[in-house]
Amino acid sequence: MRTEQPKMIYLKDYQAPEYLIDETHLTFELFEDHSLVHAQLVMRRNPARGAGLPPLVLDGQQLELLSVKLADAELGTADYQVTDSHLTLHPTREHFTVDTSVKIHPETNTALEGLYKSGGMYCTQCEAEGFRKITYYLDRPDVMSVFTTTVIAEQHRYPVLLSNGNPVGSGPQDDGRHWATWEDPFMKPAYLFALVAGDLWCVEDAFTTMTERSVALRIYVEPENIDKCQHAMNSLKKSMRWDEEVYGREYDLDIFMIVAVNDFNMGAMENKGLNIFNSSAVLARAETATDAAHQRVEAIVAHEYFHNWSGNRVTCRDWFQLSLKEGFTVFRDSVFSADMNSATVKRIQDVAYLRTHQFAEDAGPMAHAVRPDSFIEISNFYTLTVYEKGSEVVRMIHTLLGGDGFRKGSDLYFERHDGQAVTCDDFIKAMEDANGVDLTQFKRWYSQAGTPRLAVSESYDAAAQTYSLTFRQSCPQTPDKVEKLPFVIPVELGLLDRNGAPLALRLAGEATAGETSRVLSVTEAEQTFTFVDVAEQPLPSLLRGFSAPVKLSFPYSRDQLMFLMQHDSDGFNRWDAGQQLSVQVLQELITQHQQGAPLVLDQRLVSALRTVLADDTLDQAMVAEMLSLPSEAYLTEISEVADVEAIHSAREFARKQLAEHLFDALWQRYQANRELSKKTAYVAEAEHFARRGLQNIALSYLMLSGKPDVLAATLEQFETCDNMTERLTALAVLVNSPFEAEKATALASFAEHFKDNPLVMDQWFSVQAGSVLPGGLARVKALMQHPAFNIKNPNKVRALIGAFAGQNLINFHAADGSGYRFLADLVIELNALNPQIASRQLAPLTRWRKYDDARQALMKTELERIRASGELSSDVFEVVSKSLA
Ligand code: TRP
Ligand code: ZN
Repeated sequence: MRTEQPKMIYLKDYQAPEYLIDETHLTFELFEDHSLVHAQLVMRRNPARGAGLPPLVLDGQQLELLSVKLADAELGTADYQVTDSHLTLHPTREHFTVDTSVKIHPETNTALEGLYKSGGMYCTQCEAEGFRKITYYLDRPDVMSVFTTTVIAEQHRYPVLLSNGNPVGSGPQDDGRHWATWEDPFMKPAYLFALVAGDLWCVEDAFTTMTERSVALRIYVEPENIDKCQHAMNSLKKSMRWDEEVYGREYDLDIFMIVAVNDFNMGAMENKGLNIFNSSAVLARAETATDAAHQRVEAIVAHEYFHNWSGNRVTCRDWFQLSLKEGFTVFRDSVFSADMNSATVKRIQDVAYLRTHQFAEDAGPMAHAVRPDSFIEISNFYTLTVYEKGSEVVRMIHTLLGGDGFRKGSDLYFERHDGQAVTCDDFIKAMEDANGVDLTQFKRWYSQAGTPRLAVSESYDAAAQTYSLTFRQSCPQTPDKVEKLPFVIPVELGLLDRNGAPLALRLAGEATAGETSRVLSVTEAEQTFTFVDVAEQPLPSLLRGFSAPVKLSFPYSRDQLMFLMQHDSDGFNRWDAGQQLSVQVLQELITQHQQGAPLVLDQRLVSALRTVLADDTLDQAMVAEMLSLPSEAYLTEISEVADVEAIHSAREFARKQLAEHLFDALWQRYQANRELSKKTAYVAEAEHFARRGLQNIALSYLMLSGKPDVLAATLEQFETCDNMTERLTALAVLVNSPFEAEKATALASFAEHFKDNPLVMDQWFSVQAGSVLPGGLARVKALMQHPAFNIKNPNKVRALIGAFAGQNLINFHAADGSGYRFLADLVIELNALNPQIASRQLAPLTRWRKYDDARQALMKTELERIRASGELSSDVFEVVSKSLA
């Protein structure tokens, strides 16, 4: 907790550090009721900051200072200044050492930042500014040091002692304690430091690198989870190979370790040589983890591994540059996942997520650029904008330069900046220099917040046989009030003739016609491109593969969208045409609901989806994606004012109608796939994900019919399946059904069976938190009393409260404000326990501008109540004050 008003930090104030730390030697003594940290820092004046010896201001929070030496001389209290955030010393030479000893309390650390205990084990989380809660330090990413770490703890309780780098020694002491020393030869900032001590087992494997070096691979888990590591290990080996093949990047230490912990604020952390993971991002086996969980494990293992180059070998100069490592690494992991599975489906899922959640962030009070220019609390900037939009920005560079050009740029970047802490500008410069291009205007993607709009209109001149597309770009105002200049928007497109065949594209002025799909760069506020030799009025397929993170509009008729759904050669755009058709149809239903008119579904949606269901040449995962209607959250995002009840009623009505009209086709697909599931052992591969995905969405539609056959099929699947994907879907279908007795039995038997598996219990909480039947809040409150719930465990909070407030919109946005009051109470409680989680759970309340006046007032009242509730963490303070500004 702070004692001063949190203050804004600006990128423009950046200054290089006054001092550098060449070597960091740490000794940890872990005891049950406290821990001691002894640090020796080998330091020098930073030559880049010129002459003179200004005061040395070390960061440090929640530390009890026991002793301090400067250049080997013990200091008295008159020789230094300590506050609750800094220790100031007065060096008298250019080179010197600093020795400190501090006492800390990992055993009561509920914020899960710095050194803390998760169950019976010690672990650390230092990004972004957690290291200062471990020892006094220059806790900033442009201070890089080599680290030696010794851990001393009771042998019996903590047989495994780990830190970054290579093990260099270990042994017993005569007091029942033992020690281990680790040395990390690579310079790194403190945020990549890690330590683990616990009673852990490990799964071991090895990887032979491109230069034939053998690397030991170890995944450490609590003993009961030793049977759930194989999928993560396979994912790790695939990632290591992929980074060699696609980026030429080889692993650099002799050992790579992953540790799974149950209490963790995010997904995982890329500490050098010792990644620490939320157990939900490591553990996966058929019986306990869904297909989606398996894919998430694969993606996160890859993401953290890829950071070894994009983040660790080349790191960030300051936290404003966070997207330098995160945007690039998300781009890398998303292409990896696309290569391992179905590329089109991966793209669809990423885009649906971006358009629903990042676009909403970009339109809200916390909107910020990919490279923000100010923040109060950096933990609040691990956002969809920095991660997902940042990845889209890197993807656009890849689109503009092509695969080979991009690789030349990344090679130059890694070579030029190895061992350095750099900026987004340095990344762009490497791309420019390697390709001889000028990306000056492109860089606006880093500095301008907000989602650009791109309105497209067409005109066809039959006599001249020319077809023109006019693009108009604009970007809405965001809280930073930065003036928006035109972006560089790569638009991949094609033109279809009346049979759906692609036209060879030739722009006016070009000698010959070229490809049937190409990328145009829209760089001006308004810009027209004219195609020649166009014999008939074509239909454009625009923004293929979602080639830029913009809101594109083109006045398609519903018939044209149905045509694109069937004929577009771009799989992503086939899906997107279906989504646009669904949006039009749903918006019509929303209007009918608002006018009190009877709801009438446009039957064209039914026939379009009937065609999709009948097409057995389509990837089944594509069929499943195309059958999924836009979510309520997405419909909210694209509304000027979101009408909670109308959106929910319209979408539910459409789902029921589709279930009724497509019953036979769905039933046939369901049964065929369920039969295959019964005959096939579980495999975590794309084809199998696809089959189960279609089976499960079919089942969720079929249950809307309420037919006894479907209930029987659901119960059969629930009881006899051999994997969590089928079991959890069956449970979710029952939970959202009117079959109260069957629902209660299924929930009870599931909980009884899995009560000792916290990750499975998270699923059990989520399924119930997501039930859109009336009475949602009461159910969530009751579940908070369940013995498996624990407010100090972030996974539990996300599973129950996050799922309720983020996904169960009809219940959370109850007109009486009860959902808002509940969330505010929770945020106030979490603020004192875990500020990072408190601040993240607050997000739904920040979106108040989307709702009607009555809800706006209720939401603001709760934000104000939080603001007035007492001493706020900087995390919650920033979000609440920006939301009310
Ligand atoms: N750097 C991590 C990643 O992208 C995420 C991260 C940042 C994190 N801060 C954290 C994880 C705090 C846990 C807790 O993979
Ligand atoms: Zn990351």
